[in-house]
Parts: sequence; C-alpha cells; structure tokens
Amino acid sequence: MCGIVGYVGGRDALPILLDGLSRLEYRGYDSAGVALVDDDHHLGIRKAAGKLSALRDMLAADAPTGRLGIGHTRWATHGAPTTPNAHPHTADDDRVAIIHNGIFENHAAIKGRLIGAGRAFTSETDTEVLAHLIAEAMDQEPALSAPSADPADRRAAFTAAVRTALLQVEGAYAIAAISPEAPGLIVAARKFSPLVVGVGDGESLLASDIPALLPYTRRIVLLEDGEMVELTADGVRLSLLDGTPVTRDPITIDWSAEAAEKGGYRHFVRKEIDEQPRALVDTLRGRIVDGAVVLPELDAIDLDAIRRVTLIACGTSAYAGLVGARLLSRWAGLPADVAIASEFRYGDPIVGPDTLVIGITQSGETADTLAALRRAKLAGAPTLALCNVVGSSVTRLADATLFLQVGPEIGVVATKTFTAQLALLTLLSVSVAARVGRLAPADAAAILTDLTAIPSAIQAALACEPTVAAIVDALDLVHTHSMFFIGRGFGYPVALEGALKLKEISYIHAEGYPAGELKHGPIAMLDPAIPVLAVATPSPVHEKVLSNIEEVRARGARTVVIAAPGDAASAAVADHLITVPTVREELSPLVDVIPVQLLSYHAAVARGCDVDQPRNLAKSVTVE
Ligand code: G6P
Repeated sequence: MCGIVGYVGGRDALPILLDGLSRLEYRGYDSAGVALVDDDHHLGIRKAAGKLSALRDMLAADAPTGRLGIGHTRWATHGAPTTPNAHPHTADDDRVAIIHNGIFENHAAIKGRLIGAGRAFTSETDTEVLAHLIAEAMDQEPALSAPSADPADRRAAFTAAVRTALLQVEGAYAIAAISPEAPGLIVAARKFSPLVVGVGDGESLLASDIPALLPYTRRIVLLEDGEMVELTADGVRLSLLDGTPVTRDPITIDWSAEAAEKGGYRHFVRKEIDEQPRALVDTLRGRIVDGAVVLPELDAIDLDAIRRVTLIACGTSAYAGLVGARLLSRWAGLPADVAIASEFRYGDPIVGPDTLVIGITQSGETADTLAALRRAKLAGAPTLALCNVVGSSVTRLADATLFLQVGPEIGVVATKTFTAQLALLTLLSVSVAARVGRLAPADAAAILTDLTAIPSAIQAALACEPTVAAIVDALDLVHTHSMFFIGRGFGYPVALEGALKLKEISYIHAEGYPAGELKHGPIAMLDPAIPVLAVATPSPVHEKVLSNIEEVRARGARTVVIAAPGDAASAAVADHLITVPTVREELSPLVDVIPVQLLSYHAAVARGCDVDQPRNLAKSVTVE
C-alpha cells in the first residue's frame, strides 16, 4: 500500500510532490509527509496524520523549500496512523530521509540489533529500520565525512550506503531515499512493490504509478524487482542491487492526464460508472475481426495442452472470475473454478501444466494474487493475467497478459474495470472454445456480435439512475443497516458484486446470496427493515428467481427487482422495479451490474460517505 513520489530538477519540488500525492491518494490516505533538501543542503520534513489535506494545511503555515524532494501517502500496516508513524522517516539528525511502500519482514530483528547498538527509534514502523541502516552505512563511506568531497563522489557514496542497507532487509518494498549530504540525488529501489520513473527535460521524477507522473512527462522507465535507480536533474541511472548497471529505454505513455482526472464529476466513482460504454469499446477495440476473436497475447500459451482452468483473484475481480468460469465451462466445456487468491496461496491447489491459471487483478499489484500466481507457476501451470495497469507487477509475472485498456480507474472500488474484465473474459472464453472446437464459427460470431452491442446496452441501462436514486430514498438507505442481494446463475455474481459495492462505499452491511440458498439460513434474518434486491433478468431460471422473491416478500421484506422491460411477472413481485435492456444471458452481468453500482453510489452519497476513498480500503492492496 502507500503512495510514493519524488522530484529532482530545476523547479520548486513541493507543488509537484503534493500534486503527485493527490493523484496517489487512492493508494492510502491515513497520513502523509514530504521531505525536501534546499539549496543550502538543509533537509526539511513535514508530516501529518490524516488525509493529504491535513498536510496541506500544515504546509500553508510553514513549508520547506527545495528543488529536490520526496513525498508519501500512507496506508498503515505496522504502527497506527499517527504523525510519528507517517513517512518520511529519518535517522541521525536528518542525515537521511526515506519513504517506503511495503513491509520489511525482518524489521524486528534489525531493530533489536540497532537498539543494541545505541540507536533510538521514534516510530512504531517497520520502515524506520531502513533509515537507520542507511545512516549506519553512511558512517562507513569516507566521501560523506570528508567536507571537501566532490558532489559526484558524495552521490556515489550515498547510493552505496542505500545499497548496503537494502541488502539487509527482507520483504517487499518500493523505497526512495535522499540526504543533504548527497546533493541533487534521489536513490530509489523496488522489490515486489510498484515504482516507476519519469524522465523529463532537466528533471526526473518517480512515483508508485504512471498517472501521478503524466502531467510532467510521458517518458516512463519501468523498474523491475531487485533494481535500484539514481535520479538526478540530468537523468536516471538503473542498476541491480549488486551494482550491475541496467540499460532500459523509457516507454512513452499515450494516456491523457485528463483521463485520470474527475472531468467535471463530483466523484471518480460516478465518472467511472458513466465511462463504461466507452471503456468497453476500448477493451474490445481490435480484438474482434471478421467475427472471430483476435488475442495474439494468447500465442504465448499452449492452449491445446489445457484441460482445466483456475481463475484466481480478490474482491470484485473474483466475482468477474465467477462469470468467466461459467463462460469457460459453458462454451469451452472446460472444468473451471475460481479461487480466492489469499486462500489459494496457502492452500493445497491442484494445478499443473494442463491447468490454465488466470490471475485477474485490475491493479496488477494485489499481493495475494501475485503470490498465488507465483505458486501456480512453480507448479508448472501456464499463467495468464487480466490487468489494467501497464507495467504492473502481474504483467511481468504471468506468461501472458490481456490488458483491460480502460485507462486509469481512480475510485478505490472497481466499476469500469469489472465490466472490462467481464468483456475480456467473454473474448477469452470464445477464443478458447473456438480453439477446442466446442463453439462453431457461426455461434462464436453471434456471441461477438452481441458483445459488440453491449456498450450501447450499458448506455441504455445507465438511464435507470433517477429510478435508482428514488429507490435509495424510498428504502431510506440512509438509515438502513442491512440489505440482501440475490440472484441465480449469471445473476449470482452480480448479487455478490452488488453486496460488496454497498459494503465498500456506503458501509451498509450487505450479503450476496444465491437466491435458492436463502432458505437454508439467511431467510431467518429477513424482516421489513432489510430490503432484498433480486437480479431477475431473463434466464432459464427466471421462474425460480421469482419464487425466491415471493419467499422473501412473505417474510415482509421490501423487494427491488432488476428485470427486463415489459416483464410483468417480475413487476408483480417488485416493490421497486428497475428495468435494464435484455441481452444474451451470458452477457447479462455486464448490464445488470449497472443498477447495483448506481444504488451503492447513491446510498453512499446520501449517507455522506467518502465515495472515492472509503475508510479502511485501498486501491492496490500490496500487502497480504
Ligand atoms: C481491493 C479493493 C477492491 C478490489 C480488490 C482487488 O481490496 O478495495 O475493490 O476488488 O482490491 O483488486 P485488484 O486490483 O486485484 O483487482
């Protein structure tokens, strides 16, 4: 978790750092801080518990200056979200300042040794050990204690000290370090946590992800695990932790900076819900040609050897996986199951060379999903990633990656990446089914034609917003403590996603349940205070869903029913009816999810919740 940013160049660093931090706030937001070195080689640090606005308020009264600095926005792992635990951390009277995203797993042992050596700690974090290790290593660098040393020698000596320190820590990290004794230099490194470098004209930047850098440069160098980088105003130099130089050209990013901004909406989540028709067009672009799927990325995998599929993911991505598993079973005839990544990684998974393991993670950085994929790889399974973030960790781990191509998603909760995952899983399933000979070309073409029509169907579904907003009022969701979401077949993952969305952004307890399973326990909970939303769009189990809705009505629960226009039977059992366009059953989650996204959004707004940055959640969960 946590967001990292750094700047060195000819401009005042502070506004650039704060701008970068505001773009990274979705990664964590329980405290924030900056460290700058001014032209007189003084290190100035400011940090504050709370959101970035608390730091801004502090800086308005008293700000450090400098053309070199680092900044951090934190999501606590070790140590409460307090000001002392906020980054940057220092040691030895501000000889060094560091920021860190990740966990140093051996921090306790290191801290014990350092305390034994007479060092005093000021925070409860694992991070602070690295500041002390660097300071300790700086003591061993003669160039840093020689007042007359050349600046270049000082920079080399500081880099060496950071290297020495990093070789002592275990675990996951992206770090950046500066020192007033190493003028004009930021040293950074990564291992299992994201970090990218921006190459500007007379300036260099770094950040946890690409959107934070886009206002300043489009030339991005992607760091690999185990690499270090030295940033100066003149450019960047990469090396391995052992000092071996690394050469890598920058890539050029063509996203617009505006694409990562709110674009006039009150919340990113609302904007991203609205973006889905266009986003899906982007996802599908170039991937359907002459009625067939074109996914050249799959050439890296021997699909003919595949006998079964396991989809691994967390959260919303896992619900997309449930839809994908159904598609693969139905169309390709392959046994397909979904594993929650945190369970898979420590379980007894049976995967091997004949199992295609698909890791679904929009961020590409979810630690559990990465670890699960690593485990599958070790077992010899071919691995495929579905991901939205170019250059993210999963793309380097998997044998092949299919990108969602929907641009940055800033809201912490997944909306447009969910529907993009569904679209991509549809393409993948059709492709695999055609490959194994289970889907005739005409049938495949018919599915793809229907898929191409989905962006318009979603656009039409978005018109339900006023109805949904009125239902939020009518149900008095502001004062509601619990809600159920039920569905069968392809409606079941939608119910799960509806319940998760409501919990995530409106903090209303919600359960997603298979409609037929409700009678085996949860129905005991129902009463007029607990609304039940049912997904009842056309399917072979439509009648069954209607019976289940009758069951909940009999217990006095008020019902919200998502149904096809003109479906009188559904309307008859609905206290509140939402209609969405009818599409092929297998594609229905793409459309049916729209009202549940909007319901959660309006409930959250009505309850005054922080929609874009829900409490206790983060966009990229880079810790297990
Ligand atoms: C976090 C977010 C969820 C998200 C999950 C998986 O927990 O709060 O909304 O679904 O991570 O994220 P991923 O990036 O792996 O898809």
